[in-house]
Amino acid sequence: MVTRAVVKGVGHYLPERVVENAEFEKTLDTSDEWIRSRSGIERRHFAAPDETTSDLATHAARAALKDAGMSADELDAVILATSTPDLTFPSCATMVQAALGMKRGFAFDLQAVCAGFIYALATANAMIISGQARRILVIGAETFSRILDWSDRSTCVLFGDGAGALILEAAEAPGEKTDRGILAVDLNSDGQYRDILYADGGVSTGKSGHVRMQGNQVFRHAIEKLAATAEAALAKAGLRDEDVDWIVPHQANIRIIRGTAKKMKHSMDQVVVTVQDHGNTSAASIPLALSVGKARGQIRPGDLLVTEAIGGGLTWGAVVLRW
Ligand code: UT7
Repeated sequence: MVTRAVVKGVGHYLPERVVENAEFEKTLDTSDEWIRSRSGIERRHFAAPDETTSDLATHAARAALKDAGMSADELDAVILATSTPDLTFPSCATMVQAALGMKRGFAFDLQAVCAGFIYALATANAMIISGQARRILVIGAETFSRILDWSDRSTCVLFGDGAGALILEAAEAPGEKTDRGILAVDLNSDGQYRDILYADGGVSTGKSGHVRMQGNQVFRHAIEKLAATAEAALAKAGLRDEDVDWIVPHQANIRIIRGTAKKMKHSMDQVVVTVQDHGNTSAASIPLALSVGKARGQIRPGDLLVTEAIGGGLTWGAVVLRW
């Protein structure tokens, strides 16, 4: 027998304010047609002025706890992936811990930009397998609207705010491909590409900065690397493309999502797509897609999922899990 990290609950939260592409036409030399055709994005949610990343995360966490039928004091840990924390420190994870009234266990943030949720799942999985924790709340939460340059049409139309959360619990299993839970992980980074996607601020500058991206270069890396990492994770699990029921990709661009599905020889009927409604929510995009995919009735117990993402760093990776 082996220990697996099994999904017990999922939930998400989107801020109330919805911004349609057409709103950007008022202030920028852009169009709904350009944004839709180049990215697949139609609208996105933006946080209210007094709403922080930890607020969004807490709402998503409560929804995941409800879905799992668990209370916060049953959790051993909170791992929160974000690149837009409320403050430089303490972590958003400790803020969520306090908001949930969780007085035991441990909580920390993890930063791998758009690949953050993949890294967080990998970390939670390793902690569950090694026996450090039995129940972990894994959150992806972002308020990218706070770090957008509203005069830069090449970035500000692409991102949105939101949060998603998953609860993983240790379960004994036979150690086979048919087990439920996380079956394999593939993580990568290459810091030589740090200049093609970054925020031009931080502690060394005294400002939190704005997103800067050479979109077409990131696009090329995404097309090359996402199917490769998904297939590497599948191979580690002893599985192949045709075993996959659902691809749950990072939601940055519909053309990247389609290109990756095509490389993996899957039709778009087997891909969970939310990019049209959320835009790119960075570390929140995958847990949002998992939660929405489940609510739509797409993702069902026993389904084999492969989830993949790429983000600033570059960082990229994939997780294979049976729901
Ligand atoms: O989540 C982290 C990972 N991030 C991503 O995966 C994003 C990856 N990149 C992309 O999604 C795409 O590269 C974009 C959607 C950002 C851009 O699409 P593209 O097909 O790569 O376009 P491009 O950057 O090559 O730009 C084409 C043209 C340029 O004009 P010129 O130089 O050809 O005259 C841009 O100035 O589109 C122009 N452009 C715009 N036009 C209207 C850039 N942004 C806009 C805009 N509205 N908002």
